[in-house]
Order: sequence, then structure tokens, then C-alpha cells
Amino acid sequence: MPFDFYSEFDSPATLEAISGALRAAGHEVLLVEADESLPRWFFEHPVDLVFNIAEGTGGRHRESQVPAILESLGVPFTGSGSTTLSLALDKARTKQLLAYEGIPTPAWQVFRSPDDPLDPRLQFPLIVKPNREGSAKGIMRENVVQDASALRRQVRRVFGRYRQEVLVEEFIDGLELTVGVLGNDVLQALPILEIDFAGCERSGEFFYSWRMKEYEGNKELGLDPAHHCPARLPAATAAAVQRVALRVHRALGCRDLSRTDIRLRRDGTPFVLEINPLPGLSPQDSNFPIMTTAAGIAYPALITHLVGLALARYRQGAQPHELSPLAVSRSAP
Ligand SMILES: Nc1ncnc2c1ncn2[C@@H]1O[C@H](COP(=O)(O)OP(=O)(O)O)[C@@H](O)[C@H]1O
Ligand SMILES: [Mg+2]
Repeated sequence: MPFDFYSEFDSPATLEAISGALRAAGHEVLLVEADESLPRWFFEHPVDLVFNIAEGTGGRHRESQVPAILESLGVPFTGSGSTTLSLALDKARTKQLLAYEGIPTPAWQVFRSPDDPLDPRLQFPLIVKPNREGSAKGIMRENVVQDASALRRQVRRVFGRYRQEVLVEEFIDGLELTVGVLGNDVLQALPILEIDFAGCERSGEFFYSWRMKEYEGNKELGLDPAHHCPARLPAATAAAVQRVALRVHRALGCRDLSRTDIRLRRDGTPFVLEINPLPGLSPQDSNFPIMTTAAGIAYPALITHLVGLALARYRQGAQPHELSPLAVSRSAP
């Protein structure tokens, strides 16, 4: 089993925090494992809404598996639909869409084999990433490369380990930002979260690598970036970054919530790296709740707000119905 296999699993603490918030709001909550028995489960447990946090069981469309099942059964759920989740998991396809929309994203090339010739228009330093992973899986410090031979080595390594196309991008030197968005027709950009790696010299890591994400907060290892929320940006720059996140949310057809990862180049251009329509909701470890807290939304209120956003969407199109149990679904351990 690869060392980063568990990086996307939700912790019991997150499940408790979400279900606790829902119960406190008067909902009946059932927890259900998002495994292959899921479709059958719904025949025995009619629910009004699923609070979806399932990353899926694997494969190219894993995050869209549960939404696709729920869509086919007609069960309402929080968050984005299967198309958006599937698209956002494919970083290169997402970048094509961003480029079409005129939203800045680092120049890139998809390697379909380790021997593909490098597009001469790309400028070093470059970063090498598996195209369809998350949680910085497969992204190490060595993935930032300065020359063709290092590039070749890293592309081979990522191919070997992840068995999927490899995304090579220009490395954007600048600030690391992530921007949460809440809403549907009316959107709310949350205060920007800036992640500052300046104090991480001891680790030698200077961006959100896998080690940085996995051990974030570990001072001894030098993996304790400073979080600033709101980001320390001039108001006009912050507003421009938030506008980009709103455009991304709309362009991908996100629902209820999303989190857009951005590198702000020194000249002030916000380059979109990727969008997370299913952002982590760990009250301790995830970035999304940091931004909602900064917006004055306490964690339980975030959870009930997401339910409210989802129900409002369904009520627009469907008959209002009485609330009975809510289910929380998650990936199989
Ligand atoms: N083109 C890039 N320029 C600068 N840093 C990058 C670039 N691509 C990725 N990174 C760094 O790697 C991290 C993880 O990359 P990202 O594309 O967001 O993948 P993941 O889905 O694993 O979060 C980013 O948060 C950022 O720190
Ligand atoms: Mg990311």
C-alpha cells in the first residue's frame, strides 16, 4: 500500500463534528459508509438529504461516485454534482476550462508517457504532479525541477507510482492562497487564507508538498507554516483574488461550497492551481473551516448553512417535503 494511501480519509473527529452539528440543529443523523453496498442502503433508509463528504472508493472519477449514485436514486445531497467533482479531479481538464474562461492558470503540459518531448515554451522551474490526485499526493520537494534531466527523473517517478498522466506546470513563485466560496445563485467569497512557508527552513519545504500537508503543524520538523486569514494583501488585490475564486466556482458549476487554490505571482496575477469542490471539513485540520471561522461562521453554523443551501436548491426544483433523517456518508476505511 503506498505511504500516502490514507491521506484522503476522513477522521472520526470530523464525522462526529458534522453529525454533532446536525443533531444539535434537530436533525436525525445516520452514518453510512460509502462502499459498494451504498445503493442498497438507501432502499432501506429513506432520507431527506445526504451530507456528502465521500471521496469515493478509487479510480478516475472517485469523488463523483457517491453523487452519481445519489443522482440516480434521486436522493438530495450537499455540495457539487458528479460532473463537477469528476472534472475537478482532472487538473488538466480543469485548466483547459479555466483557460477558455480567461482565468489565469500556470502554463502546462500533460505527459502521457515519460518520454514525451518537453514543450519548449515552458519555462523552468517546473513542477511535476500526478494529474488526478489530491492532498498533495505525489508532490514532493524534488518535484520542483530546474532542468530537463531532473524533469525527466520526476516525470518517470510520478508515472511509476501513480500510473496516470503527469501534469507539468510552470512553478509560480509567490504567495500561497486558498479561497473558500459558499453559495449558489448568490455567492459569498470567504476571507482569503494565506499560507506562509517562510518559517519552514528547517524542513527545506517551501510549498504545500505532501509532507507539509500530512504533518502540518509539526514544529520540530519545520512543517508549521503560518496561517493568515484574512491574507495580508492590499484590499484591491484581495478583492481581485476573491473575484477569481467566484469565477472559478461558477465556471465549474460548483454547488454550495468550493475552495480554489491560488498562487499569487509577485506581479499580482492570481494563478489558479486547482479547485476543490469537496474541500476537507475537519474542524481541526482543514483550511475551509479556518476561512468560515474568519468570516464569523462558527463550525456548527457552517454545517447547517451547507444543509440550508442544499435544501434551498432542491426546493427550487422539487416539492418541499418534511425533514426526517439526514445521512452522513463517507469513504470506506
Ligand atoms: N504551478 C505551481 N506553482 C507553484 N506551486 C505549486 C504549483 N502547483 C502546485 N504547487 C504547490 O503544490 C501544492 C499542491 O498542488 P495542487 O495542485 O493544489 O494539488 P493537490 O490537489 O494535491 O492539492 C500547492 O498548494 C502549491 O503549494
Ligand atoms: Mg491543492
